[in-house]
Amino acid sequence: MLPADLVDLAYLDPPFNTGRRHAAASGTYRDTWPSLDAYLDFMRLRVAAVRDVLRPSGSILLHCDWRCSHHLRVMLDELFGPQRFVNHLVWAYGLGGSSPRRFARKHDDVLFYSRSDEYYFKPPLVPATSNRMKGELKKAGDVINVPAINNMALERTGYPTQKPLKLLLLLVNACCPPRGVVLDPFCGSGTTLVAAAQTGRRYIGIDVNAEAVRIARRRVAVIASPQADRARWRSPVVSGRTEEH
Ligand SMILES: C[S@@+](CC[C@H](N)C(=O)[O-])C[C@H]1O[C@@H](n2cnc3c(N)ncnc32)[C@H](O)[C@@H]1O
Repeated sequence: MLPADLVDLAYLDPPFNTGRRHAAASGTYRDTWPSLDAYLDFMRLRVAAVRDVLRPSGSILLHCDWRCSHHLRVMLDELFGPQRFVNHLVWAYGLGGSSPRRFARKHDDVLFYSRSDEYYFKPPLVPATSNRMKGELKKAGDVINVPAINNMALERTGYPTQKPLKLLLLLVNACCPPRGVVLDPFCGSGTTLVAAAQTGRRYIGIDVNAEAVRIARRRVAVIASPQADRARWRSPVVSGRTEEH
């Protein structure tokens, strides 16, 4: 159990209710539910628990997709209050096929809510695309263009549905104050924890899957000490403190 008022930013990348068992070279996890209600009950319990450990200035980013983003948005309205809605971010990842039956689905959703009006936000700067501002930087909009991890990427761990570090670096830098605490209760391969460690934030990662915890521990250990010993990756909770970079 975590103490109240601890966390500056909670990023949640839970199972999306795909009805599948996700399997890849370095892990598997189950994403099957008896019903939509069972999935939403699972999520409600966890989102409410996360809300209760946020600092008054803290925020939550809930990563989801077309399957349940509408249900989860209503849930966040109920748990945080509709006035605490900040953004519905679109992560446009580009990867995937096309369909003759519909527009190809090539984005995920990240729902951003705060606990109060006093939340931290530092707008990320991204390259401007208009002719007028060519070569300059501008404040990012709510559509984030970051490619999904490709098969050859050095950061690929082989854990299923691993998110790109570039996306998490952008979100952590934007939504967590320097030296703040980031919580990821579905940390998988630990991408959020790596982003927190690399940017001088502290981090807490949780995952039900022992293989995920092993990979996450290895990734953050490499940042803390490139000589890290694999034998130390044991606990189901990964937490740490890093020096500011
Ligand atoms: C979408 S993946 C997270 C991927 C992660 N963001 C990354 O970049 O690798 C979802 C994770 O939720 C974990 N999970 C599923 N049910 C859980 C539960 N009840 N408590 C904690 N973690 C859970 C799975 O084991 C899986 O690692």
